[in-house]
Amino acid sequence: MPNEVKHAGMQAGFEHHIKKQERVPDPCIVVIFGASGDLTKRKLLPALFHLQQEGLLPEGFAVVGVARRDISAKFAADMEDGIVKGGGVEPTDPKLKKFMERVKYFTTNFDDDAGFEKLKGFLEDIDKELGTKGNRLFYLAVAPEYFADITDRLGKHEMTTSKEPGQWMHVIIEKPFGTDLESARKLNDDINRVLHEDQIFRIDHYLGKETVQNILVFRFGNGIFEPIWNRNFIDHVEITAAESIGIEGRGPFYESAGALRDVLQNHVMEVLSFVAMEPPDSFESASVRTEKLKVWNAIDPIQVEDTVRGQYGPGRVDGERVIGYREEDRVDPDSNTETFVAMKLQIENWRWAGVPIYLRAGKRLAKRVTEVTVVFKQPPLHMFKSDDAKSQVQPNVLKMRIQPDEGISLMFGAKVPGPTTNVMPVEMHFSYAESFGKSSANGYERLLLDAMLGDGTLFAHRSGVEATWALMTPILEAWAKRPPNDFPNYEAGSWGPPAADALLKRDRRKWYKL
Ligand code: BG6
Repeated sequence: MPNEVKHAGMQAGFEHHIKKQERVPDPCIVVIFGASGDLTKRKLLPALFHLQQEGLLPEGFAVVGVARRDISAKFAADMEDGIVKGGGVEPTDPKLKKFMERVKYFTTNFDDDAGFEKLKGFLEDIDKELGTKGNRLFYLAVAPEYFADITDRLGKHEMTTSKEPGQWMHVIIEKPFGTDLESARKLNDDINRVLHEDQIFRIDHYLGKETVQNILVFRFGNGIFEPIWNRNFIDHVEITAAESIGIEGRGPFYESAGALRDVLQNHVMEVLSFVAMEPPDSFESASVRTEKLKVWNAIDPIQVEDTVRGQYGPGRVDGERVIGYREEDRVDPDSNTETFVAMKLQIENWRWAGVPIYLRAGKRLAKRVTEVTVVFKQPPLHMFKSDDAKSQVQPNVLKMRIQPDEGISLMFGAKVPGPTTNVMPVEMHFSYAESFGKSSANGYERLLLDAMLGDGTLFAHRSGVEATWALMTPILEAWAKRPPNDFPNYEAGSWGPPAADALLKRDRRKWYKL
């Protein structure tokens, strides 16, 4: 192929890609229930503002915060402050002023029919004033006990059905989506009574992270990794979601959740599905959902002996003394809630049979790091023997760093310069920040945009949520029957309870250093 032709072809492909990325949604109103909460200010409004800055919001657009408390007098100032602080935006940015003209507030109780009827009128007035055309994205950023009630009331007041062809009403539902299999099923039944599955966007903010999406690009957008991505070449996989923060004043929520429900059942299992799934037919919602579901369905029932739970006691994090979980505000001084969980599981399919997968998540660990570590098998023959333990041949390790210091590195053995053949592990590294510059996006941008566009690829679906709960519920039940007798069993600022190390030691392995 002559050079110019090749170039033109590539160019056309590239333009197509850009066009697909820069889809601007139809005019619409984003209605956030629970707008007085932290999420709206810290994440949602900054994300919407970023979308506006990128020219990805329609001309006819508004945001309506809805909450039970009447905070209309300070709502706009609060949101502006959130955008400035959370979004790295200059307070004098003229675009900010323009954006804030489209931010409104409405007070109602979530069980108040008259309030919902008024809200409906309020939104219709905005349609007339700002040309938002009757399209709605409802965002339920409320406590889970309100998910079904609000959806019900939206249905009852005819806010979830279109009046004109082409109009859409989508609903984003925050986590936690259920607390076990039964409650997740009930919640799905309740909201499916009002909403069609295509209207429901169960959010998991991990799927908004560039680095999580990049797992699929890394695997399926490159030719060299996929052929070795299986049991023939991979020894085991580790996924860690470690946080150095504690429960940040969320005592009552965390007491009823714990690390398994809060992070492992959703964020970690989503990451696992991207690491383990087969190539989908396309990157369309239905294909991706099918492949993810196959992974979860192929996981063997997890034995309680293959799980570890922990709770932090007092300790030091980043040089500062911190209190133990049981001393946290509004936490039972005898609490048995786990702030750490680790487990081993097996995916019984052709690709992964015999490859153990180790997962762990916890609060008040030594540092904040989320990483997928893929450890490859050793070469069949150890040709380079050395007396020095440090220069023994080590396995190749691929580390996908989800956060912070987003990037990917590959460890391999290299000859140490000198007259003997000693091998040392060295690292090849790709850093997001170095290659693409630092991003101020928080992950919600992509998810909000996709929900406005009706693209459910990066959202959890009914079947998937139930599949992950089906795996986790027996563990929760077994744990409930056998309360831990050693809590607190790890010091804040450590890497979790010794039992988590023992879990791998049994298999003659160690957690890779993060
Ligand atoms: C949330 C959990 O879903 O995820 C929090 O409720 C946790 O407890 C947070 O801290 C972690 O998210 P990120 O993006 O900071 O890793």
